[in-house]
Amino acid sequence: MKTLSYIEPGKIDVLEKDIPKLSADTDAIVRLVKTTICGTDLHIIAGHTPEVPEGLTLGHEGVGVIEQIGDSVNNFKVGDKVIISCITACGHCDYCKRQMYSHCADGGWNLGHLIDGTQAEYVRIHHADNSLYHIPKNITDEGAVMLSDILPTGFEIGVLDGHVQPGQTIALVGAGPVGLSALLTAQFFSPATIIVMDLDDNRLQVAKEFGATHVINSANKEDAIKQIMEITNNVGVDVAMEAVGYPTTFDLCQQIIAPGGHISNLGVHGEPVTFELNKLWIKNISLSTGLVNTSSTPMLLKTVNAGKLEPNELITHHFNFNQILEAYDIFKHADDNKALKLIISFDEV
Ligand SMILES: NC(=O)c1ccc[n+]([C@@H]2O[C@H](COP(=O)([O-])OP(=O)(O)OC[C@H]3O[C@@H](n4cnc5c(N)ncnc54)[C@H](O)[C@@H]3O)[C@@H](O)[C@H]2O)c1
Ligand SMILES: [Zn+2]
Ligand SMILES: [Zn+2]
Repeated sequence: MKTLSYIEPGKIDVLEKDIPKLSADTDAIVRLVKTTICGTDLHIIAGHTPEVPEGLTLGHEGVGVIEQIGDSVNNFKVGDKVIISCITACGHCDYCKRQMYSHCADGGWNLGHLIDGTQAEYVRIHHADNSLYHIPKNITDEGAVMLSDILPTGFEIGVLDGHVQPGQTIALVGAGPVGLSALLTAQFFSPATIIVMDLDDNRLQVAKEFGATHVINSANKEDAIKQIMEITNNVGVDVAMEAVGYPTTFDLCQQIIAPGGHISNLGVHGEPVTFELNKLWIKNISLSTGLVNTSSTPMLLKTVNAGKLEPNELITHHFNFNQILEAYDIFKHADDNKALKLIISFDEV
């Protein structure tokens, strides 16, 4: 089968590998129908996640059809079309019992990180019963791909961990698919003011269409901080979300946080940031950061199925799997290509 694999920092390629086989009676083998690329894949290629082994198949998002199941899989049968969660969960370890699936003792973020992922014709999914989801009838295959990672990430790590509340002023740095997912789901809680920052004017325009009350091109960070202070009458924002993963964007969040505010970090960082505790200790702020648990996926599936959230709006480009290197190039240069989420389709068998 064909896979898109990480070769070494700065290099990916299409590699031929054997079709995976069941390795435990809780596994499923899924034939991919749709997959996509995440900002995290760009961090992996940039060498920010050195734990990723060379030769690994990338990808932690997708929709596919079950080809084989182990004897202990109860919730799915061969032929079912499923959403593959980016997080694998055994369902019974201490972390799973706390819905902290991201730290499952026999799972977590493994796909396209520590084990072969979904940018391939087939993938092996461990603990299939807790790591796959049926697709409700009103959700398209493409929309369903947005539930593998970006919608739960924006909602859990940005919005829920940020404690967004009605009437608040929130700022979001990074209007990529993850930041836009936080923007969409923050509106479940009716914040009064939503300021979105990015360097990409097209993504800022999309943010406006998705409900941002203010957008700022933050290429000049000091100027962006000044504008936010003007918008907030020199108070700052109640919630600042970082959805980029660089020291400068984390710094922007800590510069604009109001007393009593909350910084929620979603970005995957490749180097340390400077946390200005000397200035922030007195402001009664809190900070959260983390890997998505996907514990909100069942609730998001209902919300999307009911038409309250439209994930297809995040999709801008379509490719066939044989064009995946081109797709990576477009996603990497998203600003030149007005790209958000790309759908990569496999030939239906
Ligand atoms: N915590 C988690 O569980 C989790 C899950 C998925 C993704 N992520 C991370 O979320 C982040 C966003 O993912 P994505 O898929 O949206 O990625 P992306 O690369 O598409 O988006 C990043 C955005 O940041 C903008 N940006 C870059 N430098 C900037 C700067 N200096 N100031 C303002 N904006 C800037 C880019 O223009 C882009 O729009 C990444 O760091 C990704 O690794 C985290
Ligand atoms: Zn991701
Ligand atoms: Zn577990």
